[in-house]
Amino acid sequence: GTTLGASAAEKGRYFGTAVAANKLSDSTYVNILNREFDMVTAENEMKMDATEPSQGQFSYGNADRIVNQARNQGKRVRGHALAWHSQQPGWMQNMSGSALRQAMLNHVTQVATYYRGKIYAWDVVNEAFADGSSGGRRDSNLQRTGNDWIEAAFRAARAADPGAKLCYNDYNTDNWSHAKTQGVYRMVQDFKSRGVPIDCVGFQAHFNSGNPVPSNYHTTLQNFAALGVDVQITELDIEGSGSTQAQQYQGVVQACLAVARCTGITVWGIRDTDSWRASGTPLLFDGSGNKKAAYTSVLNAL
Ligand code: XIL
Repeated sequence: GTTLGASAAEKGRYFGTAVAANKLSDSTYVNILNREFDMVTAENEMKMDATEPSQGQFSYGNADRIVNQARNQGKRVRGHALAWHSQQPGWMQNMSGSALRQAMLNHVTQVATYYRGKIYAWDVVNEAFADGSSGGRRDSNLQRTGNDWIEAAFRAARAADPGAKLCYNDYNTDNWSHAKTQGVYRMVQDFKSRGVPIDCVGFQAHFNSGNPVPSNYHTTLQNFAALGVDVQITELDIEGSGSTQAQQYQGVVQACLAVARCTGITVWGIRDTDSWRASGTPLLFDGSGNKKAAYTSVLNAL
């Protein structure tokens, strides 16, 4: 293939990007989007603060712009994210206990119902595990409603949109030897053994010099896949430049392709200037929209 999406499709995978609604009027951006990618994730527009700014009042304008643009171009959509400790609306940040649990479940139900039939996979729960050596859950207002909040969210999502794949998504879960990776693995193993509906695990894959692409990445992806879930690279970016960066991108693509159930890769933005990273050049296109060495190595690896 001559584009990321077409090349990935030849391997039975997708290649996606995060999209920001306010860039859909930028013709350079949209040209690359339409040409290269066959899966789209809303960078912020489907998060809890965007979709339920006031309790019980839902707002889908910017999310719909992204979903409609993608579907009109024949692209699929990853939904991101139904429940998360971050980017909660103010009203939710101050809630606790059963009121918060009910509000969270209502949010999952309402948003997944609104988009029923239009979402390939939902990040049902994002970033619920702690960093560091504990391997346990992150403390958050949602976690304090009870350890079963995650499975409750997955059951609500399944009921609302039975056709969407339901994913758990997190960062720093790439290295098989990290406690956080093991903690998520045990949760997925437990969910599968008890019949909690989970179909996929997303690996955000935000890499930099302090958090490099691990050499055991394919082991991590394979071990999760062996639990009976799909795995996906969901928010890939790699700080750096030139051939070093290109090699790291190649390693991620190779790790995914080596695992039959690694169904796709999404980069977290199009041009370096679109990145959420305050500085650096972590993406596949430069600020002018030119293909970087990293782009070529990804295309060649697919
Ligand atoms: C980031 C967006 O890219 C930024 O625009 C926003 O200010 C903060 O969130 N993990 C996630 C993504 O799951 O939703 C985050 O996206 C990046 C880290």
